Amino acid sequence: METSQNNLHAAQRRLVLRIASIAAMGGLLFGYDTGVISGALLFLAPQFKLSSLGQELVVSSVLAGCILGAAASGRLADLLGRRNLTIICAAVFFIGSLFCAAAQGVHSLVMGRVIIGLAIGVASFVVPLYISEISPPARRGALVSLNQLMITVGILVSYLVDDLFVHAAQSWRYMFLLGVAPALVLGIGMVFLPSSPRWLVLQGREDEAFSILKKTLGPAQAEGELMAMRAIGQADSGGAMAELMAPWLRPALLIGLGIMFIQQATGINTVIYYAPTIFKMSGFTSNAAAISATVGVGAINVLFTVVSIKLLDRWGRKPLLSIGLAGMAASLFALGLVFALEDSLGDSLRWLAVASVGVYIASFAVSLGPIAWLLISEIYPLKIRGLAMSLATLANWFINFLVAISFLSIIDGLGKTGAFWLYAAVGLMGLIFCRLYAPETKGVPLERIEANLKAGLKARDLGAPEAKRP
Ligand code: BGC
Repeated sequence: METSQNNLHAAQRRLVLRIASIAAMGGLLFGYDTGVISGALLFLAPQFKLSSLGQELVVSSVLAGCILGAAASGRLADLLGRRNLTIICAAVFFIGSLFCAAAQGVHSLVMGRVIIGLAIGVASFVVPLYISEISPPARRGALVSLNQLMITVGILVSYLVDDLFVHAAQSWRYMFLLGVAPALVLGIGMVFLPSSPRWLVLQGREDEAFSILKKTLGPAQAEGELMAMRAIGQADSGGAMAELMAPWLRPALLIGLGIMFIQQATGINTVIYYAPTIFKMSGFTSNAAAISATVGVGAINVLFTVVSIKLLDRWGRKPLLSIGLAGMAASLFALGLVFALEDSLGDSLRWLAVASVGVYIASFAVSLGPIAWLLISEIYPLKIRGLAMSLATLANWFINFLVAISFLSIIDGLGKTGAFWLYAAVGLMGLIFCRLYAPETKGVPLERIEANLKAGLKARDLGAPEAKRP
């Protein structure tokens, strides 16, 4: 009896892991397609005789696409379903990658990058949303964060591919073309995966939802979960817009927008997009050395995301956020200090800079990297989860865009020290924000979080396991 129970559990665990791993291919594409441009640009610039403006256009067109994609598709996740939208998204990734690989001029290249951006903007919220809704509560943190792990793997692979193809003629075409492989795995894989049971309940398709829940949770737990979902699905809270504007939703909006602001405004992508530039500023003279150090950054990012996945469902989200944000603020302060003492540090400058960047990336990877996407997949009510997540995602890409275009000008205006201290100050504010407002959602069913929200609980109490008075 015991063994057949264990076998059942093992089969459920394997099934949800398989589902999450296939969906997380969307994360791989997100990471790969945002990372690949830094290397490709080295070849595109001379071939298409790109001016600085042309280069900026090629780099930032993907972010413009992300903003558009996130803004336009929120309702689609609620109308078409999470799985169907992911399949469409894979097709768009596929087309965009082919478009870029075959580009004959700047126009078609920029167009291809916008198409890829659209897909990234959608994938960045629909994949965590789908995984979150199909995961058992006790493992939700780790499973949703597989997506973040794949983002970091995608970034690392893109750095390595840049390195690998460095001597091939027309190498940038291969760099873009490689993106079609994960797009195929995602698109074909998703066809064979079930729909989100929560979305099915919302559509009134309870029988289908129940049969999926039986496979992912086992028959005993499935019944209870279905009842909780049904109660939420039937509650009449007006239309989507009324729910989005409802006062009880405000704590969730505050957390979602706040955590996305902090994730981006602490400057993660100044490192992800400009790491070689930062390393050269600190005294690495050769491109090759700066690129190797960048590969190191990518590897630390992957490694510490794995650490986070191991800890998220044990320690919880809040302790990791506190540790990570404290580490980020301290290492950014140290990086600024290293540049302030530039003249007296001599040759040790670059190693101190590398160490600070390493601690910074590790701290981001255990905290804000996975947890920002995880929290927004947990805190919104079912009826408008797609729409509300897309709003938070839109904020993420918009601030990403602002940080990316302003980084070099901020360095010109405030100096290197001033720039990194500015990001450090945002990190400190982020630490205070998370301690005051972030909820602990470890192991709490999504329906409990929704009930807490509707009961008028404060942002930090949304994960309370039992109903409590506001
Ligand atoms: C962020 C990206 C960032 C990546 C780095 C993601 O969570 O949203 O902006 O480039 O982490 O690992």
